[in-house]
Amino acid sequence: MTASRIAFTGAVLVALTGMGWGIAMAMSHDHATSAGHAHLNLLGWVSLFLMGLFYRQNATLDTGKLPRFQVSVWLLASLTIAIGIALIHSGKPVGEPIAAISSLILFADMALFAVLVIRNGSAS
Ligand code: HEM
Ligand code: HEM
Repeated sequence: MTASRIAFTGAVLVALTGMGWGIAMAMSHDHATSAGHAHLNLLGWVSLFLMGLFYRQNATLDTGKLPRFQVSVWLLASLTIAIGIALIHSGKPVGEPIAAISSLILFADMALFAVLVIRNGSAS
């Protein structure tokens, strides 16, 4: 599977999950986990879809191992940071190391994406 396909498929599945989460919060009038919902949507839907658009524009990168690794890590860490944040805001301190480790993984993964973007600025 190409990097863009992983990104697009992952992003739309995350969007459905994140929107379902939002609807559940709205229906229950319990917005405690709002920050988890927000970051799931912003990292796993918006950012991941944007990464997919970049890889789709760069045919050589799209089939590469490193880009496929980069989007897969981003997808997984977006899910774990959202779970971590939701646990923190539900009064469960176990969420803190989960969110902290996920945030560092996301940061390193964004650094990798930055290198790929800077090195491959022009579309092929
Ligand atoms: C069916 C779709 C959605 C529903 C029903 C929904 C519902 C909600 C609810 C109930 C809150 C809590 C608001 C509050 O306590 O003030 C919230 C917060 C938030 N949502 Fe959504 N949401 C949806 C989709 C999205 C999407 C697609 C994104 C991003 C692309 C998003 C981003 C955010 C953000 C950033 C916040 C935090 C806002 C803040 O703290 O000021 N939501 N959402
Ligand atoms: C490693 C990545 C990130 C970390 C560790 C992080 C961390 C945080 C923290 C600690 C807060 C305050 C939450 C609270 O008061 O409960 C916050 C709020 C917020 N962040 Fe992030 N963030 C990250 C990425 C992003 C990205 C990529 C976006 C947008 C594309 C974003 C948008 C927001 C918004 C809109 C808020 C205010 C809404 C809210 O409180 O839920 N964040 N972030």
